Amino acid sequence: MTTSKPADHAPQSGLPLAPASNGQARRTPALEIRGLAKRFRATVAVDGVDLDVFPGELVGLIGPNGAGKSTTVKILTGQLLADRGQVRVGGHDVVGDPLAAKRATGYVPQELELYPFLTGRELLELVATIRGLDATTAQAAIDSLLERFRLTPAAHRMTREYSEGMARKLSICAALLGNPPLLVLDESLNGLDPRAAAEVKAVIREELARGTAIVLVSHILDVLERLCTRVVLIDQGRVVKVLDRAALDALSATGTTLETFFIENTGGAS
Ligand SMILES: Nc1ncnc2c1ncn2[C@@H]1O[C@H](COP(=O)(O)OP(=O)(O)OP(=O)(O)O)[C@@H](O)[C@H]1O
Ligand SMILES: [Mg+2]
Repeated sequence: MTTSKPADHAPQSGLPLAPASNGQARRTPALEIRGLAKRFRATVAVDGVDLDVFPGELVGLIGPNGAGKSTTVKILTGQLLADRGQVRVGGHDVVGDPLAAKRATGYVPQELELYPFLTGRELLELVATIRGLDATTAQAAIDSLLERFRLTPAAHRMTREYSEGMARKLSICAALLGNPPLLVLDESLNGLDPRAAAEVKAVIREELARGTAIVLVSHILDVLERLCTRVVLIDQGRVVKVLDRAALDALSATGTTLETFFIENTGGAS
């Protein structure tokens, strides 16, 4: 997984063979969100979100509880249908061409849904099959991910027996299988022990270096502050602020934390 070259992404995604960093305006977005809206009866969850994420970019989605972050990522990963708007992953419409869009996306949901009666290894084998990996490649990738996330001793156990952190680590392994060009991580650092959290941060850096586009939803603002190329603040279903890397650096140069920025720029009510 970690030794693949940047060009691995091109055949899967249809993305151009561009280098991972710089010149993002000239490249095709890995993810395009246009005018996205979703309500649940009287509740407006998402209210006109636009966002592009380019290869090699880590976009942090932050916002108060109930702001619409998970609803947005559920729509872009095909778990929910939008009322309005369009989402394309690697140029594939998530509604019109769902299989291609899903194949290009590794998704770790906030609320984990693992098949309870599969072992960890069986679950990863299932994902590898769905992603079209050949058996040899799949086994090598699965072994390496299980080892990296210290799950090898638990690989033969059914996932219903996993602790919360173990389940999240397995879900992260599943998302990484097959090197999808877009990773969507919803609160994926939650419940991880410090070693596992450090491993996820290392994986994020490696993935960015080889051109993966990453959306990371998180309330762990100090991590986002350091890692993100862009932070997008969502409140009441709308994008209310965007901080690019230069703005994030300018913020920290004035001694302002992302936490202070968050509190000053959100209503706070859920
Ligand atoms: N299935 C659902 N049915 C009804 N309302 C929902 C449903 N899913 C989400 N909502 C509502 O949509 C709004 C946005 O929820 P969402 O889960 O997207 O928030 P979030 O930004 O991810 O919050 P958190 O930080 O707590 O994870 C909330 O008001 C929530 O109650
Ligand atoms: Mg959420």
